[in-house]
Amino acid sequence: MGKRSQFSSNFGVIAAAVGSAVGLGNIWKFPYVAGQNGGGAFLLVYLLCVLVMGLPALITEMSIGRMAQTSPVSAFKKLTGNNHWTFIGVMGVLSSFIVMSFYFIVAGWTLEYICQSISTLSFSGMTSDELTEIFDEFSTNSFRPYIWLVVFIAVTGLVIYMGVQKGIEKGSKVMMPLLFAIMLYLMLHAFFTNDVSEGYEFYLKADFSKITPTVLIQALGQAFFSLSIALGIIITYGSYVKEGNVVTTCLQISILDTLVAFMAGLVIFPAVFSYGIEPSAGPELAFVAMPAVFSQMGGGIVFAILFFLLLALAALTSTISLYEALVAMLNDTFGIKRGLANLIVGLAVLTVGIIVCNSINGHSIFLICGKTCFDWCDLITTNYLLPIGGLALMIFFGWVYDQKKVHDALMEFGMKEWFYKIYIVLVRFIIPIIIILVMLNQFGIFENLKN
Ligand code: PHE
Repeated sequence: MGKRSQFSSNFGVIAAAVGSAVGLGNIWKFPYVAGQNGGGAFLLVYLLCVLVMGLPALITEMSIGRMAQTSPVSAFKKLTGNNHWTFIGVMGVLSSFIVMSFYFIVAGWTLEYICQSISTLSFSGMTSDELTEIFDEFSTNSFRPYIWLVVFIAVTGLVIYMGVQKGIEKGSKVMMPLLFAIMLYLMLHAFFTNDVSEGYEFYLKADFSKITPTVLIQALGQAFFSLSIALGIIITYGSYVKEGNVVTTCLQISILDTLVAFMAGLVIFPAVFSYGIEPSAGPELAFVAMPAVFSQMGGGIVFAILFFLLLALAALTSTISLYEALVAMLNDTFGIKRGLANLIVGLAVLTVGIIVCNSINGHSIFLICGKTCFDWCDLITTNYLLPIGGLALMIFFGWVYDQKKVHDALMEFGMKEWFYKIYIVLVRFIIPIIIILVMLNQFGIFENLKN
């Protein structure tokens, strides 16, 4: 086998990992969940989740990848010499695949809305009801979402085809600063041209009474999902890293990801509130509420295009990471050449994408226990697979794997001794305990604690 690909610079690693982390979740989910669940209080809880749980988990995954120099399914065998922990890698790859099956569809929608922003002159004259109708008509259309799905898979496949350094790294180095610049511009514009008080109040006013166990779970799930933890992605990217301080790199990734999520709220809420539009989370926020804002805004077309471009870039750098995790797995574990692996992943994603697309298509809607495939994919990964995967990772790295090797590797990757002392307590005790409590709560064990 040829020499393993590598990222060429630390900036490249950060750009690619932040690219994976910053996605649709940052823009349409985080701000709304924060606004709904205690505003400033939620932000504080979320920040704590990122620092206490997200950062150590990120360091763990990145280190496993860097130590093993191979993708998740092979990594555990390579480190331990047996297959007992391979299931963590398998679960990660499986979760990546499930996330992909709905993420690509929504990613495709962003392209449709860039086109619609232009063709309708930024939705001019349309009311919220009309926009809802347009969105429903489009997302359940039996043709257009499928075309955009194909386009998005093709573009992602092309970046992967160009390789780790020339595709993923170079692409992220251009797309991430661009995304950040657009976000900053939209945020400042919102600040200077709107009456921001109502929007900021909804988003930032701290209400600690809203912080219930359920909200804690949401904060934790969101932190893991947002940092792309427990999907094998960071292990894969870590395997392309040869040097640099693992702690600083992961800290920068966590900070940038959180910053973008935070900024998204400062873009969205002032706009939504000053135009008297009801805020919501998920697709409605991006594809109904924001277009309603653009339709009333002077020069809305520029902002509409920029906003959907922002979403498309955020989605693309995330789909790239999901896709790469699978391609690398097929290549490392089964020895399939990257070109063929790329094709296999593309076709597999297209197949499940079409199935999930059908599940939300008005003509062929099929529900499992009252939920669409789309909702199931989201629920199963965020609420179950990611926490369980995170827990298994902590147990492996904190208890099962030779602790001297763990210590030596972390020192080699630039961790300071004082930091290691905190890190290892978090990995061995704090994080597993919190995840177990969260899971128990999910199964209703602490029902009486709620509210
Ligand atoms: N982190 C991305 C987001 O917040 C989603 C994602 C999850 C991307 C897992 C890749 C892997 O939208």
